Amino acid sequence: MSYILALDQGTSSSRSIVFDRDGQIVAMTQREFRQLYPQPGWVEHDPREIWDSQLATAREVLAQVGARAQAIAALGITNQRETTVVWDRATGEPVYNAIVWQDRRAEPTCEALRAAGLEPVVQAKTGLRIDAYFSGTKLKWILDHVSGARARAQRGELAFGTVDSWLVWQLTGGRVHATDVSNASRTMLFNVRENRWDEELLRALDIPASLLPDVHPSSHRYGEVIPGLLDAQGPKHLAIAGIAGDQQAALFGQACFKAGLAKNTYGTGCFMLMHTGERFQLSQNGLVTTSAAQPSATPEYALEGSVFIGGAVVQWLRDGIRAIKASGEVESLADTVPDSGGVMFVPAFTGLGAPYWKPKATGAIVGLTRGSTAAHIARAALESIAFQSAALLQAMSRDLSAPRPAGTPDGPPGGRGPASERPGARPAAPTASLSQVTELRVDGGACVNNLLMQFQADLLGIPVVRPKVIETTALGAAYLAGLQCGVYKNLDELAALWQVDRRFLPTMPRSRAEELMARWEHAVRQATLE
Ligand code: G3P
Repeated sequence: MSYILALDQGTSSSRSIVFDRDGQIVAMTQREFRQLYPQPGWVEHDPREIWDSQLATAREVLAQVGARAQAIAALGITNQRETTVVWDRATGEPVYNAIVWQDRRAEPTCEALRAAGLEPVVQAKTGLRIDAYFSGTKLKWILDHVSGARARAQRGELAFGTVDSWLVWQLTGGRVHATDVSNASRTMLFNVRENRWDEELLRALDIPASLLPDVHPSSHRYGEVIPGLLDAQGPKHLAIAGIAGDQQAALFGQACFKAGLAKNTYGTGCFMLMHTGERFQLSQNGLVTTSAAQPSATPEYALEGSVFIGGAVVQWLRDGIRAIKASGEVESLADTVPDSGGVMFVPAFTGLGAPYWKPKATGAIVGLTRGSTAAHIARAALESIAFQSAALLQAMSRDLSAPRPAGTPDGPPGGRGPASERPGARPAAPTASLSQVTELRVDGGACVNNLLMQFQADLLGIPVVRPKVIETTALGAAYLAGLQCGVYKNLDELAALWQVDRRFLPTMPRSRAEELMARWEHAVRQATLE
């Protein structure tokens, strides 16, 4: 039996998981690390704590599997995306804390870029909108504000990376400075249509190219872990063979390899991604286009919607208003009432992300009456996760059904032949007939909540499908590494491993679901004062 080690470096914790070749979890470890909030709107991590916690979990998980560590065939990495680290190439010392994806400090830079008319250029090349969420403006902030950083960068002394690059640098003892296409696609500096750093965008943000990591497909032999670093008894030569940003890794771990297959991850936030095959398709409805995890050199894309507050609303019920003592109590409290009694909860604690993009929105609870109880509010809080996700799926459906506007860049880049004729390409995914998402695959902590999943299916009007293994983020990284090192032959083999735990079928009449969505949109307008 072969095993694969996946490192899953998330926003609030580092985890390491050993999978067997059937994609089953053999052992798993986790460590939290500090969240730093130096000013309102700022969120940082200490890069050394990221590395120390990740290394510790890797060592612990290998200790747990004992002699089986000898049979680990490869290592895969998945990570919180966009979070930005800059370090000294000679000493490996970070020049500043990691600026986390949630951090809003770069908004003035974004405003200046928008005012300079760059939005269409950024969208056409990167698939993104100009937003402080992405790495490029965070990197610019470090170069502009950390004493001496720009001069050192210009002399080629510094390296930039998202968290995957930082881990690879550490794991290889500074021998490899690299990232994968899915992480690069979240920087706002990467041309996702040509899979290369974009000189025009680098110039616009005044970023020296010498800072940047090499970019490879998500399945790739990135380098070897320093012998003995993780486990003195483990394999002497352990290759880093797969990397993907966590949401693209989850899409891969859910076996969403073809256009039209979609997943939603219910974590602190919610991230819905739909594979669009080899088609670069810009959203007309508030989503972004991103590189999917790419097992080969052929570009593949996904449409993505990011909801900033998902499961975090349950933390607020627990820590903010103390309506529950433990997060797990929310389902039983919400279940004591048949519905939310007309209460609507818009958890716009940090503004609203996709598809609304309202950075100044604040949270709102509307529809309260004398009869409203904590149970109604808990139910409305849970339902808000489903409403926000349903709004994402509606946006995707609109994008799918809309006729392509003239000039929309949704084909292969100019001057290149059809994708299926390029060397190394696999057979083209069926994009032509795609007009609707037919089921939603779910993962992440909150997908174990049956009440929430049933309500989600009712709102969407399509089946919501929960797989047996819900650690799909780490699984995706393991699959990418396993493909590279020959544990798996092809995507069909991986698709066959995906197994359903439970399928939630819609039971609510569509007219009722539509009425509820209309009431949700009305509540959103109240939260955004529109
Ligand atoms: O884009 C941000 C996302 O990658 C963060 O994911 O699971 O670490 O909160 P997570």
